[in-house]
Amino acid sequence: MPGRTLQRIQELAKITDCEGELTRLCLSPGMREANELVRGWMDDAGMITRTDAAGNLIGRYGTGARALCIGSHLDTVRNAGRFDGALGVLAGIACVEAVRESKLSLPFQIEVAAFCDEEGVRFQTAYLGSAFFNGRFDPAWLALEDDAGVSIADALRAWGADPDAIVREQAPPRDLLGYVEMHIEQGPVLERADRACGVVHSICGQSRIHVVIEGKAGHAGNTPMNARQDALVAAALVVTETERCARAGEDLRATVGALHVEPNAANVIPGRVTFSLDIRHSVDDARDEAIRSIRALTESVCRERGLALTWTVRQETGTVQCDAGLTSLLESALTETQGDAPVLVSGAGHDAVSFRETCPIALLFVRCKDGLSHHPEESVTAGDIEAAEHALLQFVQALAARHV
Ligand code: CO
Repeated sequence: MPGRTLQRIQELAKITDCEGELTRLCLSPGMREANELVRGWMDDAGMITRTDAAGNLIGRYGTGARALCIGSHLDTVRNAGRFDGALGVLAGIACVEAVRESKLSLPFQIEVAAFCDEEGVRFQTAYLGSAFFNGRFDPAWLALEDDAGVSIADALRAWGADPDAIVREQAPPRDLLGYVEMHIEQGPVLERADRACGVVHSICGQSRIHVVIEGKAGHAGNTPMNARQDALVAAALVVTETERCARAGEDLRATVGALHVEPNAANVIPGRVTFSLDIRHSVDDARDEAIRSIRALTESVCRERGLALTWTVRQETGTVQCDAGLTSLLESALTETQGDAPVLVSGAGHDAVSFRETCPIALLFVRCKDGLSHHPEESVTAGDIEAAEHALLQFVQALAARHV
C-alpha cells in the first residue's frame, strides 16, 4: 500500500526517551515501546515474532529451510531523524506484506530483524544488537557502563532480560541466504545524481585513534614565546595537516571531531590536549598509509616542540565488501525500476558489518534530502521509499527465481 511505510515512520518517531526530540537508546523504555509497536505490524503481516536475549525484535515469514534476512536498527542518536534505521526495518515488513498480498510463494523464509543498538550512543560501542544476532557479542561488553553508571548487564535486567542468556543463547543465525539492508544514504551522492536509489559495493574501513599531546601549562603573560610547550598549537598543526592529507588522497575521509584542552583557561598556555582522529577509506592499505603519514607528522611536530605524545588506536574495522551476486541482483532491480543503478561506497558502518562472516550481504541506499542525517530534519520522500521498496521486492523475486 503506497505511503504505508512513511505513515509508520511518522508513528514510530513519536516514541522517544526524551520529550520534544527523537532519542531512542539501546534497552530504554522507548526502545521497548518501539519494539511493541513494530511487533504489532509484524504480527499483522503474518510473521512469527520473538525478542532475543539482547533486545532485538525478529519476525519470520514463510517456509523453507533457509532464510533471507532483511533488517536495520530501531535505536537512534540523540535528537535524531526519523528514517535512519527505521526505514530498513519497515521496508522489510513492507516486503513481507507485498509477498503476502500478491500471494507469492518463496522457496525461502524472510526474517525481518530490528536491531536494538547500532548507533552505540548509550554504551559507546556500536552494533551490540547485530553482534549478538551473529554470535559476535563479547561477554566482556556486559560490564560496559552508560553515563549514569548503568552496565549493559544491569540494563538487561531492568529491561526484564537475563544477562547470562547473552552468553548462553548466542549463536550465529543458521544458514542465512544473505542479509540485505535498506538505509538512507546519509550523504549527497544520490541527490546529485538525481536518483532515488543506489547500491553499495563496499563499506569503508574505519580507524578511531585517541591522541594525547602533553606540554606544559604556564602563565600567558610571563612565559616568552620561545620558552613554551604549547600542546594546543601542536594539535592545531596536526588538525590542519590531517585535513590537507585527506584532501590530497582520493576517497580518504579524516576528521578530528572531539578536542579537549586543559586547563582550558584564557590566560594559561594549554598544557595538555586530547583529541580524536577518525579515518576512513574503502581500501584498507590506503587507510593504513594515511594513518602512518598522519602519525609521522604528529610525532615530528611533538619532537620539534618538546611535547610528549600518546597514540592509541581505540577501534579498527576493515573494509567490508558487499556480495557480488546479491549486489548484481539489486543492480538489475534498480536498472529495471529507475533506468540505472548508481554505485556507492558507504562511509558509514551499518548493521550489515556484523554479518560479514555470517553470510553474503547487500546494501541498498535511498536518497535523503540534502544528504542530511542524524538531524531532526532528515527527510525522504514517499515516492523514493516506494521506489526503493519496489526494487527490494524485485530483488527478492529474482533471488527466489535463482533458488527454485
Ligand atoms: Co543507521
